[in-house]
Amino acid sequence: MGDGGSRCAIGHLRTPHPGLSAARLARLRMLAILWKGDISLKRDPDARTRDRAYAAHMRGANLPLFDDAPPAEMREQLAPGAWVLRGFAHAHADVLLREIESIAAASPFRHLVTPGGKTMSVAMTNCGAVGWFSDRRGYRYAAIDPESGKPWPPMPERFVRLARAAASAAGFDDYAPDVCLINRYEVGARLTLHQDQDERDRHAPIVSVSLGLSATFLFGGLVRNEPQRRVPLVHGDVVAWGGPSRMRYHGVLPIRVGDHPLTGARRYNLTFRVAR
Ligand code: SIN
Ligand code: FE2
Repeated sequence: MGDGGSRCAIGHLRTPHPGLSAARLARLRMLAILWKGDISLKRDPDARTRDRAYAAHMRGANLPLFDDAPPAEMREQLAPGAWVLRGFAHAHADVLLREIESIAAASPFRHLVTPGGKTMSVAMTNCGAVGWFSDRRGYRYAAIDPESGKPWPPMPERFVRLARAAASAAGFDDYAPDVCLINRYEVGARLTLHQDQDERDRHAPIVSVSLGLSATFLFGGLVRNEPQRRVPLVHGDVVAWGGPSRMRYHGVLPIRVGDHPLTGARRYNLTFRVAR
């Protein structure tokens, strides 16, 4: 499961087993990986509400995947208040990518410089009432894109709807993000371990949507040197972390070579935040 991920608890399932169909074998392998502890499946009192929100979203997305609540492994808990919602944005990917293109036409992707003087390998832009950026003076939000000299493009309605539905499926109702930071990763680009700490609201979740090439997401603890989970993320996956997990360290390992039918050799990531 990704770089250096944990080994399967039921090692012998790696070899063909005469009594099992291929599909059953694949499902058992998946469960074995989950049970091993890379991603926990703990139930909690809000699970029923989240199941309903998840199932309603998936029905609205016209994915003929479930008649009822999705199987538990489709929504994986990373920590209290932190969830991976597998495939949550998949049906909307085309629209999201088109919106990204028109946002970038007004506020182009750029490689920001950190206060320490390093140029980031990830290219960024924003939409919403404010946008996040960095220069030698520090990290901050501002209403005007310093590159275009104009306000950041408004957040498309589709973005807001998706972010709200994802937050709700992760147990956070009435989510009202005012910024979406858009990251563009070329092969080799990475995001070192960090906390999202420039926002005023430190409870509302970060909602993060993965599009294009796959990535290994690092999800750590509230202090930098806690061990990190390695979470494989593919096109259409959404991660939401808020409440007690809002300030957890996270990052992205260097993107590996690949060719995605919709994005070529790139990964895009939308991160929604409540900044002001
Ligand atoms: C971020 O931490 O801002 C982005 C995470 C990601 O690209 O998955
Ligand atoms: Fe982040």
